[in-house]
Amino acid sequence: MLEKGIIEPLPGQHNLNDYEAQLKSFSFSEVEKEFSWYETGKVNLAYEAVDRQAEKNGSGTALYYSHSDGQQENFTFQSLAGLSNQAANMFSSLGIKKGDRVGIFLPRSPELYISFLAAIKLGAVVVPLFEAFMEDALQDRLQDSGAKALVTSSELLERVPRGELPDLKHILLTGENTLTQQVINWWTEVNNASPDFTSVWVARDDPAFILYAAGADGKPKGIVHVHECMVGLWVTAKWVHDLHAGDIYWCTADPGFITGIAYGFLAPWLHGIPVVVRGGRFNAEDWCQTLSEYGVTVWYSAPTAFRMMMSGGDELLQNYDLSALRHILSVGEPLTAEVLSWSIEKLGQPVYDTWWMSETGMNIICNYRCLKLKLGSIGKPFPGIETSIVDDDGNELPANRIGNLAIKAGWPAMFRNVWKAPEKYEAYFKHQPWFVSGDAAYRDDEGYYFFQGRVDGLINTAGERVSPWEVENKLTAHPAVAGAGVAGKPDNLRGEIVKAYVVLNSGYSWSDHLAEELRNTVKSELAAHTAPREWQVTQAIPRTADGSVDRKALKTWAMGLEQPE
Ligand code: WTA
Repeated sequence: MLEKGIIEPLPGQHNLNDYEAQLKSFSFSEVEKEFSWYETGKVNLAYEAVDRQAEKNGSGTALYYSHSDGQQENFTFQSLAGLSNQAANMFSSLGIKKGDRVGIFLPRSPELYISFLAAIKLGAVVVPLFEAFMEDALQDRLQDSGAKALVTSSELLERVPRGELPDLKHILLTGENTLTQQVINWWTEVNNASPDFTSVWVARDDPAFILYAAGADGKPKGIVHVHECMVGLWVTAKWVHDLHAGDIYWCTADPGFITGIAYGFLAPWLHGIPVVVRGGRFNAEDWCQTLSEYGVTVWYSAPTAFRMMMSGGDELLQNYDLSALRHILSVGEPLTAEVLSWSIEKLGQPVYDTWWMSETGMNIICNYRCLKLKLGSIGKPFPGIETSIVDDDGNELPANRIGNLAIKAGWPAMFRNVWKAPEKYEAYFKHQPWFVSGDAAYRDDEGYYFFQGRVDGLINTAGERVSPWEVENKLTAHPAVAGAGVAGKPDNLRGEIVKAYVVLNSGYSWSDHLAEELRNTVKSELAAHTAPREWQVTQAIPRTADGSVDRKALKTWAMGLEQPE
């Protein structure tokens, strides 16, 4: 099958059976009647995702939480509704109200999900912070968002630059307090708070969370998402993820990123479907064990993770019963032929690729069980969403021409602003009616899209967005470095790795020690995944006429097509 690059549609009934018909007739307004606010007019994302599910099926499991250290705990919709009410009362007693920003800097843990729901119930705006962030990355995000409260753990607290965040009034700690008296114990307060709380009703386009995403040429951008995202999440969970009653869903992404928020819990919970959350670091055996132990039926992950599992070989898979798995999806980086062949051969089914971004808030171009798959294609637009390929002036291009992947503005989970930077928001929409994604792609004669890479130098390593600009700034702050240029170099395991070209100041010479020191600088100030894995000393960094780093030239070097002098 795969030799020809085509995989036939899966037989049987799926939630989406006739893509073409829905493409013609579907409108997102049809989905609105799935929500209680369609009749009551009372809107709140967390209420719909948890309290409403608790009303329908309180004893149903919402969260199967476990950690590689052995901790294990399950939560019903009823218990999550109660705990998030208690946490909402706790926030409220601290004076946090609608519109205030609440940072959540926690490892994957029940407290993270409970705090997230609680803040949203209150109409506050969550600022999720990936647990691997270091001091500078945290400061940028907490300062820009003006977060008034932060929920964090004893281990992570020491990275929080508390003295430099004048807006930050309250720190809530989920563990023992080892550093300072000026923090509040999360569990003590939650346990003391009342489990009765009525969600704050908001407008559909009121902010729910601000997710900071790397941009190629500046500080991270605060992508503002609103309560209305639930419309897009509900219907993509149904048609793309094919969720049915009885499913056990595992999205492996961390809730510090859009996938771990949108599909890690919100989308499945809007359907009353339980999710698996596994704490701890990636380990192929641990993941197989998790899939098998919980009988995961629908699994959403990423190519690098699949490749890491592949490297465990057949022996790994043979030790586990993965027979419950019925639907596998991928996101974040190109789904390579080797991953697809592996899943067909070893897991008995293809992986369905999905394309989207932090900014889109929901799956946009996808593969569907009822359509044939084409090797290397990210699929076709979700019904109700118009996508296209446009040139640099915003003109639509015909089939088979590479250009900018663009989406017609107005889909329900679309971001609604860049926090405190409306000009950055507008920059995405300068070719009305198109949102221009920053990805290059083409579509074939049958309307299948093929991803061709980023156009702006943004790096995608193991599915994570890295800004070359941020890494370059860290490197040039080091006394040894006169100039730095950073680009993504193709890599068999991670898709791309971060490669740094550096020009040394006189008096410095290159050594493994210096490389390690530079790597540690980036690692300890930003986050481990942003630190360069490969280095090359050059005479100069290529620049464009306006003096900025010439991203295309650097990419040519990183691809090995040309060598620096
Ligand atoms: C890339 C992740 C290839 C793309 C949801 C996009 C992909 C960026 C795919 C967004 C895919 C996403 N194939 N590349 N299926 N999906 N990307 O904001 O470059 O972390 O612009 O959102 O990931 O990354 P973000």
